[in-house]
Amino acid sequence: MATTKRYDVKDLALAPEGVRRIQWADRQMPVLAAIRERFEREQPLSGYRISACLHVTTETANLARTLKAGGADVVLCASNPLSTQDDVAAALVEEYDIAVFAIKGEDNDTYYSHIEAAVDHKPQLTMDDGADVIGVLHSARREQLGDIIAGTEETTTGVIRLKALEADGKLGFPIIAVNEAKTKHLFDNRYGTGQSTIDGIIRATNVLLAGKRFVVGGYGWVGRGVASRARGMGAHVIVTEVDPMRALEAAMDGHEVLPMAKAAEIGDIFCTATGDKGVITAEHVRRMKDGAILSNTGHFDVEIDKPALRSLATETRHAREFVEEFTMDDGRRIYLIAEGRLVNLSAAEGHPALVMDMSFANQALSAEYAVANAASLERKVYPVPDEIDREIARLKLATMGIDIDQLTEEQAKYLASWDEGT
Ligand SMILES: NC(=O)c1ccc[n+]([C@@H]2O[C@H](COP(=O)([O-])OP(=O)(O)OC[C@H]3O[C@@H](n4cnc5c(N)ncnc54)[C@H](O)[C@@H]3O)[C@@H](O)[C@H]2O)c1
Repeated sequence: MATTKRYDVKDLALAPEGVRRIQWADRQMPVLAAIRERFEREQPLSGYRISACLHVTTETANLARTLKAGGADVVLCASNPLSTQDDVAAALVEEYDIAVFAIKGEDNDTYYSHIEAAVDHKPQLTMDDGADVIGVLHSARREQLGDIIAGTEETTTGVIRLKALEADGKLGFPIIAVNEAKTKHLFDNRYGTGQSTIDGIIRATNVLLAGKRFVVGGYGWVGRGVASRARGMGAHVIVTEVDPMRALEAAMDGHEVLPMAKAAEIGDIFCTATGDKGVITAEHVRRMKDGAILSNTGHFDVEIDKPALRSLATETRHAREFVEEFTMDDGRRIYLIAEGRLVNLSAAEGHPALVMDMSFANQALSAEYAVANAASLERKVYPVPDEIDREIARLKLATMGIDIDQLTEEQAKYLASWDEGT
């Protein structure tokens, strides 16, 4: 059944502000803009229906515009109930004629009904951030699997879920793992999430980081970025890990490494960034100091055990926007930001456009690649082709006005040989 209602957004009157902010982000997204110009001429996505489930931000709006410029018929829904920017959603509908189903603060039922609406679009291409559309297609909408050429996946957690689906032999169509591109995770996960996570914590609490003990759960790409930015603001950073290699790296980067049970006793601010569940549990909360602030920047709201926090509390109260206060029976107060959901997208604006330029260039070019290579792609999770990754790096450097050296013929030969020594 075709979608009858082409949007569900908070308020279309917010569109003018959304347009201004989309244009502002666009100034920082020159690589995507160049792709959009080429797409307009070449129409590589002509006639393709795309259902995209992404954070509805200014940067995503510029991606949606790019896909549409390439000839695609795009429907967008949110990949998190709290990350939608309502003015952007309105602008996409009013100004750019793109169907959007997303409202900031939507409840779980609405969130999933919006994903259903995107799936009703009968996509031939999917774009996910956390694999929620693909999840619905592989459960309630299996009859649509055969119509789909390929999907792309934006984040680490989504790629993990899709690789699990592939390993089970159940993946219904090819996937391009955008997160695995170097021009994505090296910059977006590290610098983008690093900065915007700190931004979210500060906007929500106005806390001073200098002199605080800042506990980072997980030292992957995201954790590294958050830790280095927290240190840059003068915090003493403590890292918790389960992987010995990553723990060693954190220690040699100069951070204190502790098990969460110990970190819980001394931390002032906590931020989980693991993609795992139960990183902060009741046992940890019992040990925390009065005033401890908890946040999460991993994909799902399962890293902090919210039910446990609730059950330990004798009283809960809305302390300020995005901050909930939990009072324990001994009088300690623990604060949770943005319901334990992605703090950078819930309490701030998500990644700066300059890094999303590369992430979304990968999305646009991966969609083009999937269409052009549909006949040869199997039901597997593929990396972004290296040529695309390198081309994005080259273009980004050019737009930043940075020149680099070129290998001479002699150097290229030397680097490819084994017989030249001292
Ligand atoms: N907030 C955002 O905008 C944003 C952006 C990019 C990625 N993400 C999400 O952030 C999460 C992390 O992404 P990443 O790219 O850094 O992944 P990653 O795989 O590089 O790193 C995760 C790290 O967490 C560690 N870990 C796992 N379980 C743990 C536990 N119980 N305690 C301590 N450490 C543990 C792992 O050993 C690993 O080092 C994912 O959910 C990803 O989808 C969020």
